[in-house]
Amino acid sequence: MNNRRPIIAGNWKMNKTIAEAVTLIRDIRSGVREIMTVETVVCPPFVALSAVAEVLSHSHIAVAAQNVFYEESGAFTGEISAPMLEGLVDYCIIGHSERRNIFGESDEWVNKKAKALLAHGIIPIICVGESLEQNQAGETDSFVRQQVTAALAGLNADQVASLVIAYEPIWAIGTGLTATPAEANRIIGLTIRGTIADLYGENTAQAVRIQYGGSAKPANIVELMMQPDIDGALVGGASLKADSFVDMVRKTAQLYR
Ligand code: PGA
Repeated sequence: MNNRRPIIAGNWKMNKTIAEAVTLIRDIRSGVREIMTVETVVCPPFVALSAVAEVLSHSHIAVAAQNVFYEESGAFTGEISAPMLEGLVDYCIIGHSERRNIFGESDEWVNKKAKALLAHGIIPIICVGESLEQNQAGETDSFVRQQVTAALAGLNADQVASLVIAYEPIWAIGTGLTATPAEANRIIGLTIRGTIADLYGENTAQAVRIQYGGSAKPANIVELMMQPDIDGALVGGASLKADSFVDMVRKTAQLYR
């Protein structure tokens, strides 16, 4: 058993109006009310952050943004900065494969975003993961290692220890396909934690919480969470209904009693 508190985060992506978000978070709040051993995080769209945070003002559920821009302010139409999120969110997802692939975000941007968030007391949830082609070509380890190294460039060991990393094989996102729990554990443990150990030492590597993401759902969460190096899940589709998301948090909590 390690000291890492499991963290289950629901990434709502571009779903839910403000009213729908409020309904969903009320249901999640009542469903996980007494669960303290597992950290529950929700990631609503920007426009619903305030309303969701208000519902959660006396709750232990944490709130995350789904993206941030790395500059503090200025002529960046449509973007949201870390100072705007400070005090509103605890976490922020960066480098999600949808942002990398649809919006062209580079490793360099992910690194700048991580620095911007940390400077404002927000914990980055850094997403990494290989494509189907890379997976089939046997390039997963080298590609993920390089993504992790680039994302962490210039961070100190304390900053790295505070991070959350999400390993999300792109071919498993929204497809119903999941990496086998053993394979996900191997990439998370040997490749991601191994890269951090090489860069910052074993203590730092053992402190970082690393989630699995990609078609995580109630039916596979227990098997995933039983893996020694998997510390949580970043959940897309199955986080959009309170029942299934709460079920995943509850099943995880049963493993950590
Ligand atoms: P999914 O998405 O659970 O719908 O596969 C996961 C994610 O993209 O974070």
